[in-house]
Parts: sequence; structure tokens; C-alpha cells
Amino acid sequence: MMTSIYIIISILVLILCYLRWKFTYWQRRGVKQVTEQFIFSKKSLGESILIRYKEGKAMKVKYLGAYLFHVPSLLPIDPGLIKDIMIRDFAYFQGHGTYHEPRDILTMNLFSLEGENWRHLRAKLTPTFTSGKMKMMFETLVEKTGGLEKVVGMYADSGKSCAIKDILGRFTTDIIGSCAFGIECNSLEDPETEFRVFGKKVFRFNALNFVNILVFPAWFLGSIGFKFNGHDVTDFFTKVVCDTISHREKNEVARNDFMHLLLELKNKDRSVTVNEIIAQCFVFFLAGFETSSTAMTFALFCLSQNQTVQQKLRDEINEVLQKHDGNISYEAVKEMKYLDMVVNETLRIYPPLPGIPRVCSKDYRIPGTDLVIEKGTRLQIPVWGLHMDPDYYPNPEVFNPENFNEENKAKRHEFTFLPFGEGPRMCIGLRFGLMQTKVGLISLIKNFRFTLNEKTKTPVEMERGSIVLSVKGDVWLDVQRI
Ligand code: HEM
Repeated sequence: MMTSIYIIISILVLILCYLRWKFTYWQRRGVKQVTEQFIFSKKSLGESILIRYKEGKAMKVKYLGAYLFHVPSLLPIDPGLIKDIMIRDFAYFQGHGTYHEPRDILTMNLFSLEGENWRHLRAKLTPTFTSGKMKMMFETLVEKTGGLEKVVGMYADSGKSCAIKDILGRFTTDIIGSCAFGIECNSLEDPETEFRVFGKKVFRFNALNFVNILVFPAWFLGSIGFKFNGHDVTDFFTKVVCDTISHREKNEVARNDFMHLLLELKNKDRSVTVNEIIAQCFVFFLAGFETSSTAMTFALFCLSQNQTVQQKLRDEINEVLQKHDGNISYEAVKEMKYLDMVVNETLRIYPPLPGIPRVCSKDYRIPGTDLVIEKGTRLQIPVWGLHMDPDYYPNPEVFNPENFNEENKAKRHEFTFLPFGEGPRMCIGLRFGLMQTKVGLISLIKNFRFTLNEKTKTPVEMERGSIVLSVKGDVWLDVQRI
């Protein structure tokens, strides 16, 4: 009995010594550090990164050591260093460090792949996102605004407040469902459609899966059939893509969408496989619907509290559309300069990805210092911290689209605004994301006036279990027809 107690105590002491050793990693290397874990905090991941950034600024350091569980993670604070990491010395920081394993098909997507596999796939997929291809898909976006206006119009007519986050999530689900999978999801009409249900499920933070990928090696998880997104989600997206491919090939269907472009790569060049198509459709869906609907939600949230900006935007929309016979066209959207400023200012205050992960792939000495970032070290680019830094944006909490007029833009370091990342790994869907965000906003602001309903408490609380920055619950707005 006594022997077992001794063994247990010895094991506990060993674990404590190991953790103490782990949690002094940065200190031992002469780097200022913080040890508080976001996982035990009441804040979202984004808010934790923002707090870390502010702590680093208060310490006047260029980088700060932190930990994700027991894993050391570095927070670069200085925009010059961030530029080196994302562009000049990109060869050392190519990967996002996210889990991927060939036996878990959905994880073999562009966001997660690293090294040569990523480089080849990125080169093959880049032509899919040119402005020419975006123009091809533009009509689908405009088509979907009909459903959006109908749903919001019902709230305007009934005088009831509307939960805009949910409505916009359904709008972008329908767009991406159509453009990535070639499927009419109709989630605007039916909120319980399978696509919407699975789409929401993927974004729910699963702490157990997160622990699994931090603790166990990928080859082991692959060998026991672990599916990071869950078996049901994996089976659903695999089946949807396979059914679409066989329907298109059997009936020789050609559509202006991502699926068609991926099938061309498969059939003409034999450069992608069916499994690769499944993973890419999945990531386009994942990266495409929540980020843009979040951006639109926050834009309407800000505009509801700033009626002067809302009216100025409406005036620009009406003026430009008049020149284009009242039609929302690709060219008309490009002409709307104030809309661009409003969207940028929204992405500044509420960046959908508040932190961008990177992993160091070979030892890297930080220029001008003795610190070598060791191979395998994780980094978090503190996007939200930079965006809310009063050194770059005076009164950072205030919604002010003028932050993005030409004069103010020219005054700032270019790496102080990173909603889409930067460098070779920058968001491949930037054009598409901006396009759907802007088209959605045009259709709504043109037709409706939005005010904040008292059910929305300000400042808003963020969803803790979400990787994308998202309001807890919903944003409730009152709507009037124009
Ligand atoms: C407002 C909308 C969007 C925002 C704010 C956004 C933001 C981002 C960010 C911050 C990254 C990481 C960049 C980096 O590591 O430097 C990223 C990567 C990515 N995004 Fe987006 N995104 C948006 C829309 C989209 C859309 C619509 C798609 C696809 C249709 C998409 C597909 C991707 C993919 C595939 C990657 C990984 C690229 C790679 O690793 O090579 N995104 N996005």
C-alpha cells in the first residue's frame, strides 16, 4: 500500500517538474513570457491573443513568449518582425501548424498542408481565384441576394427584430454551397437544412479533439481512425462531393463554380485527385461562409450604431448603381470606394481571424538579436492586437471608416492591417470573401435601414468556443424598409 502511494507521489512530482520545466521554456531562453492559459480563461481565443498583445506592448518588447497548453508559442509584436516572418523569411515559416493526416481526408486541405505538398496545391488552385473567375461567379452571388432581401423584408414588415448573424450565416452558406459544391442549399428558406447544421457543427470548438492533436502524433491518430472534424461531418462532406462529381460527369453538367474548375484540373490535367477535391471543397466552404457572414454581421452592427455612416454608404450605393442601370455588377462594386472603407474598418475592429498561426520549419535567428526560434516552435500573429493598437489607429475602439482613406493608409506601417494575412500564404479566397461581403451589404443597405435592438447588449460578448471571432448569441437589429 505504502509502495503504491510512493509511486503515485513520485509520478505526480515528476509531472509537476516536467510542467514547470516546460512553462519556463521562454524564460530560460531570455524571452519575456506570460503563462496564463486561454483554455482556462473566460475569454475567446481572439480576446486572449488581444490581451497578450497588450501585455507585450506594455512590456515594450518586440516579441512575447506564451503557451498553448504545454506548447511554447511566440507572439511577434513588432510589425517589421511580422513582415519578415510573413514575407522575407517565409521559407522558415511556411506552415499554419494545423493538424493534417492523409487518412483523415478533410484535413488534407490547402490551409493545413505544409512544405512541397502545400506549394504544389497552392499553385494549382491559384488560377481558380483570379478576378476573371470571380466575375464568372458574380451572378450566383447577386442571385442569392433575392432570398436575403425576402427574409429581412419579412422582419421589416412584421416589425419584429431580426437575428442578423443567423440570417447572414444562411446567406453565405447558400452562396458557398452553390459555388463550392454546386448545390442549392436553400438554408435561407429552411434554417435546418443539412448544410447549415453541419456548417455550424464544424465551427463548434471540440476541446477533446484539440487535446488529442496536441498530445498525440498525427500518424498515431491516423492509425486509430481519428477524424478531427468527426465521423459524421467527414462522411457528409465526402458523400456530397462524390455524388456531385458523379452527377456532373454522368450528365456532362458545366457550371460557373469552384467545383467545375476543380473537375477541370482532375480531368484535363490529371493534377488533382477526388480526395483532394473533397478536402478543398470542404475548406472553401469552411473558410468561406463563416468569415464573410461574420464580417457582414459586424458591419451591420457598427452601421446600426452610426446612422451618419450608414446614410453616407447608402448614398454612395444609390449613386453608383444609378450609373449601372440599377444593377449590382462587378464593376459597380469596384467603384464603391466608401463601401471599401466601411468593410476595411469593420475587418479592423472585428477581424474574423483575430490571430494567424504559423509554425517554424527550420531554426531562425530573429534579426538583430541572439534569439533563435527553434524548428517546430509555434507562432501567433496577433492580428487583432495590431488592429486595436492606438499607436497605429487613434481611438481604436471608435468605428471610423476614415482610417482607410488614402492619406491615413499611407501614414501606417503596411503590416498593421492583416485581416487576410500576408505573403505567399495569404488568404486565397480574399477576392471572393470581399465580393460576397460587399454584395450582401449593398443589397441590404440599399433596401433597409438598420438600428440596434435593445436585446443586443454593448459592448458585445464574444463566443468563447469559436475560432472565428463571433458574437455570443446573436446581433438583434430593427429593420425598416427604405
Ligand atoms: C472576409 C472573408 C475572409 C477572411 C477575413 C479570411 C481570412 C483568412 C486568413 C487570415 C487566412 C490566413 C492567411 C495567412 O496565413 O497569412 C486565410 C486563409 C485561407 N482562406 Fe480565407 N478569409 C476569408 C474568406 C475566404 C473565402 C471566401 C475562401 C474560399 C472560398 C477562403 C479560403 C481560404 C483558404 C483556402 C486559406 C488557406 C490558404 C493557404 O494556406 O494557402 N477564405 N483566410
